[in-house]
Amino acid sequence: MTAKIVVIGSFNADLTSYMARMPRPGETVHGDRFVTGAGGKGSNQAVAAARLGAEVTFIGRVGADVFAELAYEIWDAEGVNRDYVSQDDEHATGVAPILVDSSGENMIVVVLGANSHVQAADIDAARERIAAADVLIAQLEINLDMVAYALQTAKALGVATILNPAPAAALPAETIQLADYLTPNETELETLSGGDATDVEMAARGLLTRADQTAVVTLGSQGAQIVSGAESISVPTYEVDVVDTTGAGDAFNAGLAVALAEGMALAEAARFANATAALCVTKRGTARSTPYRAEVDALLAT
Ligand code: RIB
Repeated sequence: MTAKIVVIGSFNADLTSYMARMPRPGETVHGDRFVTGAGGKGSNQAVAAARLGAEVTFIGRVGADVFAELAYEIWDAEGVNRDYVSQDDEHATGVAPILVDSSGENMIVVVLGANSHVQAADIDAARERIAAADVLIAQLEINLDMVAYALQTAKALGVATILNPAPAAALPAETIQLADYLTPNETELETLSGGDATDVEMAARGLLTRADQTAVVTLGSQGAQIVSGAESISVPTYEVDVVDTTGAGDAFNAGLAVALAEGMALAEAARFANATAALCVTKRGTARSTPYRAEVDALLAT
């Protein structure tokens, strides 16, 4: 069965500099490489899901500028449906200057531009596509009222929802409640909880208000923690050589969405998502470093 996924979210042109170590405030350091590539959490998730074999529709906004071409190029190459992407004549395509050090860690600034101007009409136009989907995924790099509207639309149509609350932002309880699956990392969990999240299970449980809601907390090299009903399951990840962690969370969410849409049980889906993210960090780049299905299947078979 081919998974049908709708992703609503951001596209950013990633302007990535690689360096031995990050500069301190006021300091200049030399970089050893600079790459302009396709990024944005939403688009990264859409590309990753398509590479995993899903039929993917992307809803979002880009500007009428040269950076939008990067988006069209990767979506067309990977078979992501862009019929519901609007070109915004007043706002520029999102950009993200990124610094990556030799340990693979990153620092990112996002200038969201057109991403912040998604309209209800953009979502309404895709209503039939959403209705036909197995899963809708949203993140927090578009205007938050439209995140809620998209989740509401999917829920009303009986479509499963994943809310990846990234980058970290406080959210109204009503928005969190619209997520069937909530996928924060530890920082995002802390922000959503409004306090200490050292006890991941307790913090995650505090966010779930429906009995059928699940949190899947990503823990980097520690894998993921599933918190659902009375259960709390830790799903370890794969040990790999880390080159660039940018986009790992996006790869994880895409893997989770595809696996759930294909009917995998939750723990199996989290394992699939871990494998997708683990492979992503072994390569430089964001969307372009997400793995194809055969690579994920091969890692899972080891
Ligand atoms: O998650 C990684 C992404 O965050 C990058 O592609 C960058 O554009 C920012 O949105």
